[in-house]
Amino acid sequence: MGDPRLFELARPVGAFNTPELHALIADMEETMHRLDGAGLAAPQIGVGLRVVIFGFDDNSRYPDADSIPYTVLINPVLTPLSEVVEEDWEGCLSLPGLRGSVPRWRHLHYVGFDPLGQPIERSVEGFHARVVQHECDHLDGILYPMRIKDFTRFGFVDALSSEADDLPAD
Ligand code: NI
Repeated sequence: MGDPRLFELARPVGAFNTPELHALIADMEETMHRLDGAGLAAPQIGVGLRVVIFGFDDNSRYPDADSIPYTVLINPVLTPLSEVVEEDWEGCLSLPGLRGSVPRWRHLHYVGFDPLGQPIERSVEGFHARVVQHECDHLDGILYPMRIKDFTRFGFVDALSSEADDLPAD
């Protein structure tokens, strides 16, 4: 947080299935797995393109979090499917050691493309919807603290109550 590249509007990907795109995605996958995140957006590694990756296996450390299929999502478009907003804890690999309670749409429809240019379309809810909203915010230069309403529920994970450790960082 503080690197100006995190606050820029990322550009759409114009060409699919290119060596450059595959190399970017491989770099993002390695970074996400090394840092044990549930997702990553290209601007987090300094690349201003509209590419996010996310995925989360059932994990004994977070028994309440639903699994999410591993997905590469390019040029995403998000649409809420209801007015329901819910707050839950989030972290971010770009803000290590911090957690905040962030309002997000509960029900979400998203579209985009895979690395080969094939369309992706899903309707999701809960943790899956939250992760996608968090990652896609990175493409518009938005970090989760910008969405927090109650700043008493934002802080260092070591200082917050244990409920703030419920969810993995992105
Ligand atoms: Ni993040």
